[in-house]
Amino acid sequence: MSEIAINSERLWQSLADMARIGATKLGGSKRLALTDEDRAGRDLFVSWARAAGCGITIDEMGNIFARREGSRPEAEPVMAGSHLDTQPTGGRFDGVFGVLAGLEVLRTLADHKLTTARPFEVAVWTNEEGSRFQPAMMGSAVFAGAMPLEEALGATDQTGATAGAELARIQYKGEAPCRPRPLHAYLEAHIEQGPVLEAEELTIGVVTGIQGIKWFKATLEGINAHAGTTPMEVRRDPLVGAARIVEALDSMTRAFRPDAVATVGMFSVSPGSINVINQEVNFSVDLRCPEEAALLELEKEFRAACDEITKGMGLRWKLEEIWYSPPSLFAPQVVDKVEAAARALGLSARRMVSGAGHDAKHLADLCPAGMIFIPCENGISHNELENVQPEHVAAGANVLLRTVLELAES
Ligand code: HGY
Ligand code: MN
Ligand code: MN
Repeated sequence: MSEIAINSERLWQSLADMARIGATKLGGSKRLALTDEDRAGRDLFVSWARAAGCGITIDEMGNIFARREGSRPEAEPVMAGSHLDTQPTGGRFDGVFGVLAGLEVLRTLADHKLTTARPFEVAVWTNEEGSRFQPAMMGSAVFAGAMPLEEALGATDQTGATAGAELARIQYKGEAPCRPRPLHAYLEAHIEQGPVLEAEELTIGVVTGIQGIKWFKATLEGINAHAGTTPMEVRRDPLVGAARIVEALDSMTRAFRPDAVATVGMFSVSPGSINVINQEVNFSVDLRCPEEAALLELEKEFRAACDEITKGMGLRWKLEEIWYSPPSLFAPQVVDKVEAAARALGLSARRMVSGAGHDAKHLADLCPAGMIFIPCENGISHNELENVQPEHVAAGANVLLRTVLELAES
């Protein structure tokens, strides 16, 4: 079995075909979770998986499972997967590579009429990005029992639409229960989304774990007043306070440690009128660090800075945690198999921690899990210019194929 290889032209063509759905003018993708574009991408995947002879199951969270039976149908399946939803100005490969590499494994097994001992499933997880509906990795969180179904379905976007209503609207609110079930192992192929592999001219990232992530909603309240008649010394301007806090967050994180990162991605003011000192400012905070203790320490330092800055300005502030994804480690036996597969294929590889969050984080709580990274150009992702080399796509998919075969026979 181990001498078979994926069809790299077919995989590259499928990536191009998927990229036509929600295509953006700079060559990226916009398929926000549970929009019509997301539905179209899902429909295309389901049609391909059915054509490859798979049975399709859709669960209550809209997670899609394409299953190829094994000679031991009652055995715990091996699963691969990722996501098809994107950022608003996302790339063509984030998530999509992992889903279509899994599909390519299904297609290759069908081409060779190969039946593995264990069943093999490819999963498409709902709302991995957490852009339209927070938190991220929502579908896999409910599947792994890390988030109650009703809480996820009740999440709202900025228009007030709920995830549950949107799931029903795009006709992906399935019947199958969305809850943990026995899995032999889970694999996720993904672009690195960072600069490491390209900088070291390596082909495969053997991912050992995912760093910790904390998301917050920050609110500052002042006193809205007339822009013309309010002297500077009596103002209570939350926008000025927020600007000082964002600057302090950036400089403290840079000083904290080289692998800590902090991002303010969303920012809004109210009332937002040209000649009014604002009443309220809201913004998001994304903090990440590989170790939990360091992440909690950075949060503590940030809270102290918010206190210090606002105290002298007469502003009220609050920092509400909206999501916490603790650092996770992948199973050594899966990590070793990914590394062995890369070596057997003569591919350059290194072990590394993922800076980005992935559904594999939740699957790792259910079964032995691992990830396979490939380089992306200039380390750019969550950007329309995201790009990868066809030979890296083929290499990553072949490492996935080989590792799946290894696990499906064990
Ligand atoms: O936020 C993340 O790291 C992932 O792209 N959802
Ligand atoms: Mn992703
Ligand atoms: Mn992403």
